[in-house]
Amino acid sequence: MTVPALPRIRILPDHVANQIAAGEVVERPASVVKELVENALDAGASRVEIELRNGGKTLIRVSDNGEGMHRTDALLALDRHATSKIRSVEDLATVASFGFRGEALPSIAAVSRFELITAPASGDPGTEIQVQSGRIVSSGEAARQPGTTVTVRSLFQSLPVRAKFLRQSAAETRAASESIVLLALVNLRVGFRLESNGRELIDLAPAASLGDRVAELWGPAEAQNLLSIDQEEGGIRVAGLIQRPDAVRPAGGRRYLFVNGRPFRDPSVLKQVDEAYRTTVAPDLRPTVFLYLGVPAGQVDVNVHPSKAEVRFQDSAAVHAAVHAAVRTRLADLISTTEIRERSVVHEPSSATPPTDNSERSTAVPLPQLTLFVSRAEVDSALLEENPREVETADADPARSGPWQIQNSYILMPTRGGLLVIDQHSAHERVLFEQTMDRFAGATGESQRLLFPITLRLSPPEHSAAEELSGLLEAIGFEMESFGDRTVI
Ligand SMILES: Nc1ncnc2c1ncn2[C@@H]1O[C@H](COP(=O)(O)OP(=O)(O)OP(=O)(O)O)[C@@H](O)[C@H]1O
Ligand SMILES: [Mg+2]
Repeated sequence: MTVPALPRIRILPDHVANQIAAGEVVERPASVVKELVENALDAGASRVEIELRNGGKTLIRVSDNGEGMHRTDALLALDRHATSKIRSVEDLATVASFGFRGEALPSIAAVSRFELITAPASGDPGTEIQVQSGRIVSSGEAARQPGTTVTVRSLFQSLPVRAKFLRQSAAETRAASESIVLLALVNLRVGFRLESNGRELIDLAPAASLGDRVAELWGPAEAQNLLSIDQEEGGIRVAGLIQRPDAVRPAGGRRYLFVNGRPFRDPSVLKQVDEAYRTTVAPDLRPTVFLYLGVPAGQVDVNVHPSKAEVRFQDSAAVHAAVHAAVRTRLADLISTTEIRERSVVHEPSSATPPTDNSERSTAVPLPQLTLFVSRAEVDSALLEENPREVETADADPARSGPWQIQNSYILMPTRGGLLVIDQHSAHERVLFEQTMDRFAGATGESQRLLFPITLRLSPPEHSAAEELSGLLEAIGFEMESFGDRTVI
């Protein structure tokens, strides 16, 4: 007779399971910020305040004036799979809240010193709960206005491996403010405030429109360069703001996608945007877009990514077609009503390029003429193939042989084998890039003081990036000084 072996498989205790699950939900302080702010928004808050210390590594506090919780719910909220937001799998198809897993609070509480203070809108007493590495260490009554405050201290102190991989505080602060910006772009009526180490980084009043919010985040000039779109095709609505082609810069645009009120990432959707801009901007430029897709409930699966950053469309071809059509139609409208005169102010005359001043010729050409673009790669290869001497010995009559300049932007040079088209702006950038790299190599940051310093208003993530890179910028000759309110000189 054989003796049954002792089972080798065991069910993990809750606090161990929570710590493992936390690895998926809570990757870094910014994910904690995202989860807590989403909870505040789901609770109907009209104002959310976020406080960070040391990039969130020491402290993250999110307070809201939402509906709050009763004591029993507050205790339940810390259990895994405890959620008020869905009741069945079917609900997932139509879920409109950010949350639906019932994973965020227990996961965060499993890897931190966690405190929840909440009071329901009914006016009933508030509750305070203290949790340490997933175990409730105390709970009791607390006085609070209706709403909820969650404080997360010493994140990952129980997971030294994860703690070791956290980045510098400035990078974590930037990532956290980027998550707040993302949620602020899809909750216009909510006010947001972010404070980091006692300094205010974001203060957004409730906005009446997307344009107002963009203006508050990046300044009115940015908002003025955007066109509104709103079009429906195949049951898919595509609304939002897209950048005017003449405002698109090589530095790359801000690109935000939302579906049914939820941020998501999807390079294939952005590719459709770029396709739609083709022939109006050079192919390697990335226009700014804020796109809000409205897809019928049940046609988008939001439960395909651990931190919900990605979604899956039932019919992604239809989504692609709708995005392409909406952007394309808006740009076509613009083209049919605009003259190139607007474009001629895009590129400032640059000293690095020789051509003659023919601004008379460059104005008032209809925009569709700009449909001829040659990518940088194509020009590079044309230059490589070309025998330089052939260029030099081209017809000596400058009036016939060029170079010519069109639109103050492009240099045309006939060669024996054909025609060279040089994007003057890109060429200038290349020259500046080479000069900058040379300066790095020689470590001789030279600069000339401006008579009138330039003042730039940056978004919160840009501002912390600028602060982080100030040493590097100085090395290449840019002096930078912070001037409060995300403004640098
Ligand atoms: N700020 C808050 N105000 C009111 N209720 C809250 C708040 N935060 C959490 N809750 C309640 O606690 C529950 C658990 O929150 P938790 O974030 O863990 O899960 P969820 O939001 O339901 O789903 P997900 O894990 O996808 O975020 C929520 O369903 C909600 O009922
Ligand atoms: Mg949640």
